[in-house]
Amino acid sequence: MISIKSEREIELMRHAGMLVSKMHKYIKPFIKEGITTKELDRLCEKFIKDNDGVPTCKGYEGYPATLCTSVNDMVVHGIPDNYKLKNGDIITIDVVIGYKGYQGDAAWTYAVGNICDDKKYLMEHTEKALYEGIKMVKPGNRIGDISSAVERYANKHKLGVVRELCGHGIGTDMHEDPDVPNYGIAGTGSLLKEGMVICIEPMLTFGERYVYLMDDNWGIKTEDGMPAAHYEHTVLVTKDGYEILTPRLED
Ligand code: MF3
Ligand code: CO
Repeated sequence: MISIKSEREIELMRHAGMLVSKMHKYIKPFIKEGITTKELDRLCEKFIKDNDGVPTCKGYEGYPATLCTSVNDMVVHGIPDNYKLKNGDIITIDVVIGYKGYQGDAAWTYAVGNICDDKKYLMEHTEKALYEGIKMVKPGNRIGDISSAVERYANKHKLGVVRELCGHGIGTDMHEDPDVPNYGIAGTGSLLKEGMVICIEPMLTFGERYVYLMDDNWGIKTEDGMPAAHYEHTVLVTKDGYEILTPRLED
């Protein structure tokens, strides 16, 4: 069942989303050579709590941290650890923050120092693929319109589309109906209606699309070891289009 949020619920989701945006802005200057992913996690957990938010991922199905920190060939769900970031790495920071029971969710891939042109290309076009999907959000369109827009953009730019994971509805739970795949057929799937809130999150790879689950049962990496990028926004369906609830704040 896809829930329709009331005006009051939307207000709380705006607040949760803004906390997510602010946390990304807060952590960005710390993403430098030498810092560990665990230290990034600690800083973000403190930031969230200081701002009356809840780090929703921590304890979710046993997940041990506030952030997912996915470096280079890690696609998603990298558990923060003692790895020290190196010049030339890319790292995706993915976070879910709760506020008065409502959730906001956004992921961004960041460059550590100077990165190679291939990684720049991957980041640029994964972010653009996300916006191609978001542009399809309006009442009367279907989930498949979003999916196919993302897939078409990725194919055009010769990037792999990870199929094992997808976007999702969001509200009081971080994962609600419907699924929002990053591949599919326009005109199919659930109808979008005013008041729905969904997360759109392309995970694209520089090489093949195939992935595997690591031994920690969380981390997902590309099979060929090529880098992956991941961008995600929480998006509200409005009367005539969309509102991004996790806007990127200027530096
Ligand atoms: N942001 C992730 C998502 O889009 C959160 C899942 S990580 C978990 O699904 F550890 F919380 F499960
Ligand atoms: Co998400």
